[in-house]
Amino acid sequence: MKRLHASILGGELFNTILHNPVNIYMTHMSNYANDRLALYTFNLLFDFVQNNTNLQLRYAPSSPASGDLALGYTGQNASHLGPNSLADYYLELYPDERVPIWTNPCTDRRHLAIWAPDKHKLCSVVPKILIVGPQKTGTTALYTFLKMNPQLRSSQMSKEDFEEVQFFGDKHYLKGVDWYLERFQQEGDTGLLSAHSDNATRDHTEPVYLDKSATYFDDPKAPARASRLLPSARVVIMLIDPADRAYSWYQHMRAHGHLVASSLSFEQLLASNELPIRSAGPETTSLRNRCLEPGYYAQHLSRWLEFYPPHQVIVIDGQWFKLQPAPVMNKLQLMLRLEPPLDYRKLLVYNKHKGFYCQLKVERDGRKSANCLGKSKGRRYSPMSKAARAYLNKLYWPHNKQLARLLTNIGQALPAWLDEAMSLARAL
Ligand code: A3P
Repeated sequence: MKRLHASILGGELFNTILHNPVNIYMTHMSNYANDRLALYTFNLLFDFVQNNTNLQLRYAPSSPASGDLALGYTGQNASHLGPNSLADYYLELYPDERVPIWTNPCTDRRHLAIWAPDKHKLCSVVPKILIVGPQKTGTTALYTFLKMNPQLRSSQMSKEDFEEVQFFGDKHYLKGVDWYLERFQQEGDTGLLSAHSDNATRDHTEPVYLDKSATYFDDPKAPARASRLLPSARVVIMLIDPADRAYSWYQHMRAHGHLVASSLSFEQLLASNELPIRSAGPETTSLRNRCLEPGYYAQHLSRWLEFYPPHQVIVIDGQWFKLQPAPVMNKLQLMLRLEPPLDYRKLLVYNKHKGFYCQLKVERDGRKSANCLGKSKGRRYSPMSKAARAYLNKLYWPHNKQLARLLTNIGQALPAWLDEAMSLARAL
């Protein structure tokens, strides 16, 4: 009772009224054997507000469709609205709240208290590492090599998105936190509750969960959403020359039989923005945008840095990773504090046939072979034409310059391909 009074008389309940122009309460009138607690609470609360503030409280009359009583405060608009239109009015005031933003139930005592007890075990699978992309920079190889560390656990495979979860985009976000975390639950998980698992100190036995979804990088909503649910996650970003990335993406779409990509040469796709709208068509425009926009690295990276401190963001030189993955992996696992650190020089082997590094597989009888990524990773296609390269270098130059500035500002080394481009520009 003391706590209830404190909440009403200047505490939390009072403050909700004070700070929210619209309040809708579900009072559970008949709870607790009709103890009239709600009536008592709200009478006392309104008396307190009326006697101690100059706020004007108004009831919103019930709408015909609902028996609920809604309370609106401030503005003539709000005073005569029913609960549904009051909700609309609220969302007009706070359009960002149309879509909920999920936070981590495991670090919120109250959320944890109302979460079904059998869900608590999900606290042990909250991801601590996000590989956010962008697509076609080598994220699958990075993910596959990282997973060789026994401490790392990933999401279950899905038929639709394979190893990716893609939760922080629009596709699955409204399915909620339980859906997200359940994607990481593996058979045989101990499910030990760690109420503050996001900050938990790691020991050798504690698995570390990893979400790799290469579409997050350039999704404008992903950084804010990810940072609210996983504020202490490390964000890993892989960057190759954006011109190469665009070309690889175009080849990927052709390989998947995309009609527009298959009907246009790369040069035609790049030049399609100069065609009259009628000849280009919205599908071509959309394809061109999807091909080129993820390469505006500085713009996307800045957004991640709005929501994550620089020390949690790790930028990897994807071109260097392609050529020398072992030193890159050795360094990365130290940055991620994975235990035990592996020596990737002994675990990866260059495969001439594939043209890439692969996992070294040692058979029982001691024979060695290379376990390479599938056909869709490391495709063979003709090199990009000089004209397309020149076009893309020009297009991406201002973005690359901005990226160099951004990385320097946050104290990160420039990827070699960017460093070279900068030196070349200085020399001209
Ligand atoms: P290409 O198939 O165009 O060569 P992602 O996994 O992010 O979709 O990236 C795919 C790209 O990863 C491939 O693009 C390839 O260049 C690159 N890559 C880097 N290291 C690789 C490896 N060890 N095996 C296969 N592909 C690798």
